[in-house]
Amino acid sequence: MVTAGPTREHLDPVRFLSNPSTGKMGFAVAGAAARRGCETVLVAGPVALKTPAGVKRVDVVSAREMLAAVKAAVADGGETVLVATAAVADWRPAKCAARKLKKRRMPDVLKLVRNPDILKTVKGVRKVGFAAETGAPVKEAARKCREKKLEFTVANDVLEKGAGFGCDTNKVAFVYPDGSVKDLPLMSKRSVAGRIVDEVLRA
Ligand code: PMT
Repeated sequence: MVTAGPTREHLDPVRFLSNPSTGKMGFAVAGAAARRGCETVLVAGPVALKTPAGVKRVDVVSAREMLAAVKAAVADGGETVLVATAAVADWRPAKCAARKLKKRRMPDVLKLVRNPDILKTVKGVRKVGFAAETGAPVKEAARKCREKKLEFTVANDVLEKGAGFGCDTNKVAFVYPDGSVKDLPLMSKRSVAGRIVDEVLRA
């Protein structure tokens, strides 16, 4: 199972909090898993990408919808490996209006509440996470690995050229709970995805 793309956290039907994830990394992982014969479910936030061949896709908008879709897919049984590439919004507006808010009724300060952490909440599956950092990704990735009980974390520095959001390449390091690190060179997201799935299948 792969999560991909951003989530949107609506304030009203036309306004939301989100981030620049395009889903390219996650769709590449789903495609690589399907090509290797894995039954693959892709839970995707709002992105404009074609579903890779052989992949079952579930579209969601918000973090809470993403969590529900992941839980439902896990409940289908079998050995599941969750590869969480999605850039899930950590907060959402405390209230979402059913209709477009008039400007004069818009608050100057938005009250936010925390979203659930999907990777932390889901239990009973093997888990691989990502860590999107702005500088020194490895240290944070090791912490996330231990805190979220992951087999490994794929760390990327989203400020690095050719890495992170939107581009067709990525430069990542696999970081393991014992603190060991496998650095990969800059390569296409398709190749990074292949390396992630091979690492999962090797374990
Ligand atoms: O989609 P692209 O444009 O190709 O860009 C790829 C990417 C930059 C989005 C991707 O490479 C990446 O880094 N994904 C992780 C983004 C992220 O939110 O990282 P984080 O360090 O905030 O989160 C750590 C992990 O917890 C991630 O696996 C994330 O999916 C997961 N998480 C985070 C918050 C939350 N509420 N629930 C989660 O499951």
